[in-house]
Amino acid sequence: MPKRINSTVPVILTMTCLFSFSALAALPTPSQQNQGIKDPGVQNGQARAGGALPGLNPLEMKFFSSSRERFQNIDAVQNGLGPRYNGTGCTTCHAWPSVGGSSPTHNPQIAMATANGAQNSIPSFINLNGPVRVARFVKNPDGTADGGVHDLFVISGRSDAPGCKITQPNFDAQLANNNIVFRIPTPLYGLGLVENVSEQTLNNVLASNAPLKAQLGIRGHFNVNGNDGTITRFGWKAQNKSLLMFAGEAYNVETGATNDLFPNERETDPNCQFNHQHPEDTTDLSGINNSGSPASDYSSDIVNFAAFSRLSAAPQPASPTNDSTHGKAVFNSIGCQLCHTPTLVTDKSTYTAQNNVSFNPYSDFAVHAMGSGLADGVTQGTANGQEFRTAPLWGVGQRLFFMHDGRTTDLIQAISQHASPGSEANAVIQNFKSLTPQDQQSLLVFLRSL
Ligand code: HEC
Ligand code: HEC
Repeated sequence: MPKRINSTVPVILTMTCLFSFSALAALPTPSQQNQGIKDPGVQNGQARAGGALPGLNPLEMKFFSSSRERFQNIDAVQNGLGPRYNGTGCTTCHAWPSVGGSSPTHNPQIAMATANGAQNSIPSFINLNGPVRVARFVKNPDGTADGGVHDLFVISGRSDAPGCKITQPNFDAQLANNNIVFRIPTPLYGLGLVENVSEQTLNNVLASNAPLKAQLGIRGHFNVNGNDGTITRFGWKAQNKSLLMFAGEAYNVETGATNDLFPNERETDPNCQFNHQHPEDTTDLSGINNSGSPASDYSSDIVNFAAFSRLSAAPQPASPTNDSTHGKAVFNSIGCQLCHTPTLVTDKSTYTAQNNVSFNPYSDFAVHAMGSGLADGVTQGTANGQEFRTAPLWGVGQRLFFMHDGRTTDLIQAISQHASPGSEANAVIQNFKSLTPQDQQSLLVFLRSL
């Protein structure tokens, strides 16, 4: 039987595994024997994610299909790529186990570095078998806080960017100065449900089980939008308010395309501006795309990208087995569920069949202090340098890379990385370590069933 929560004393653990860049190159394989327990590994077979929300009406269904097509567009310079970029389209990064997911098995950033004549060198933290990564610098050269994304690649040398000569940042120097941190893509499935949970529901969930949380040292708070004070919920630090906001920012920051939400180029070198009209993406007044959905045709790319995510279904868990059902009980008894909230209920929705729907993201969408071992030193909104949003665990069964920087492919490592000085999860991870190997194994089987 799993150890009960009330019999535990919080214990601060030292990190058992230090972050090493060489480990990042490893292929995603089931983990080594670890005191007899083993991550069952990526669940192969058909992708259990990527379809439409159940219950959409025919017009919504057409909007979903067309926006899903639009989401797969790859940009060249004439459509808005660059001058600096991390990816040439949303599916560079949101691709696994199907369109809209996370990092694929082979990192497309490798081929992209030299596509169309580009001459980018590949930073040492980007590997063919490693996760897609986005880099942030912690501090500016003058010591003030940076925290922003610095794109890996430039369009210089590409056949569609004649005369552009800008160069990549010096990533080796940033690595040597310990000034660089990474983020991997999060999956976009089912996020319309997340967007449509009311503030009240989220507040109630965070306030629930207060005595237990206090006993285990779990606090957490929401990241909030500076202008209106409402909860923000998207991104590794829950730094963004809505799917449309994230799509607009990603289009500008990751691929370099200006749009109605982020209308200006980030790189202003005059020799690298090829589209003189901004925003590069806006409402299409002609609506001539003929995708089968006039709503999609008239809408900007970013509206389509947000719609694809908003109308997509939650990942489907595998059918329960005795082992996974037992693992779920273990998960709920040692305190994982106090952050990874199994069930939330949506508010009333404009979309068909989405009112008061209960769904299973396994997150409270709050940010928690995760200790010195996971800290990245980046502040976003009210999330400080060691706080992260409880990562939603739906779809984890088919995910290849884990934690904000993709430091591991192994669920056992993902769990043990929760523990380091200052982490709110220390007592719960101690509970995990005190379980019998059989209970630990069932918990891993349960996670891979999600
Ligand atoms: C180069 C890789 C890359 C590309 C290209 C990319 N993304 Fe992302 N995406 C990320 C990363 C990394 C994160 C996590 C960002 C963070 O928290 O700092 C993310 C997170 C998101 C999220 C938040 C999801 C959540 O769980 O809260 C949304 C929405 C999103 N991306 C949409 C898009 C859209 C739309 C596009 C295409 C315009 C796009 N992304 C292109 C890497 C990428
Ligand atoms: C104090 C809150 C908290 C508790 C308790 C907690 N987690 Fe987490 N979990 C997080 C946060 C925050 C992250 C993201 C951390 C990061 O990426 O740096 C995370 C990430 C994960 C991930 C990786 C998901 C991904 O998308 O990469 C797994 C798997 C996971 N947790 C499982 C567990 C299990 C199993 C337990 C119980 C033994 C547990 N967690 C307890 C907050 C918590």
